[in-house]
Amino acid sequence: MKQLAVIYHSGHGHTEHIALHVAEGARSVAGVQVHVLKAEEAARATEGLLAFDGLVFGSPTYLGGVSGPFKTFMDATGKLWRDLRLKGKLASGFTVSSLPAGDKQSTLLSMFTFAMQHGMVWVGNAVIPEQHRGVPYEEAANRLGSWSGLMAQAGHSAPADAFAPGDIKGAKMFGRNLAQALHRWAGEHEAAKQLEGVE
Ligand SMILES: Cc1cc2nc3c(=O)[nH]c(=O)nc-3n(C[C@H](O)[C@H](O)[C@H](O)COP(=O)(O)O)c2cc1C
Repeated sequence: MKQLAVIYHSGHGHTEHIALHVAEGARSVAGVQVHVLKAEEAARATEGLLAFDGLVFGSPTYLGGVSGPFKTFMDATGKLWRDLRLKGKLASGFTVSSLPAGDKQSTLLSMFTFAMQHGMVWVGNAVIPEQHRGVPYEEAANRLGSWSGLMAQAGHSAPADAFAPGDIKGAKMFGRNLAQALHRWAGEHEAAKQLEGVE
């Protein structure tokens, strides 16, 4: 059984709504157990991250970057960085903001750099925007066109579940892809360890 953690912060519920759909998509893959953790709890017990094969990070975009509580979580992992204890785990990220662009890319880049500093292996969002295939824009997965990670958009002050159906569909696809990648990576990882002759 592979272990996948979805670690997120959400100030007003939007990122949490997407996190739950990412988790739902991941759970649709057999052999993967999915854990949903708030960044605040994960920050208090970073050794717990060692139990996971993959980590998915979620943060709202606040002023063009990750939120304060999510950055606190990132900084709390410093002790694990010293010996690269997260090396080889799969990682990816998602973010929510209120504007179509809203500088969401900065947030994903910050998560990506964080994962790279830990020696993790980044998995993107390999989905062709479905509006290119005739799906109406609001219903299209990856309608915002983000491959570095998942982006979703909820209007300013909108209820926490006020997402376009395409963003919800995209979140499930993103989670499912990650869970499938865990199985693929496990196979490759085992083969690589045998080649290196290490446990
Ligand atoms: C302090 C703060 C800064 C924000 N900065 C941005 C921003 O840079 N770009 C943007 O599009 N939306 C921005 N927003 C809007 C949020 O990204 C948006 O409301 C998001 O859905 C919040 O997610 P949450 O409910 O999970 O906290 C900001 C909101 C707050 C509270």
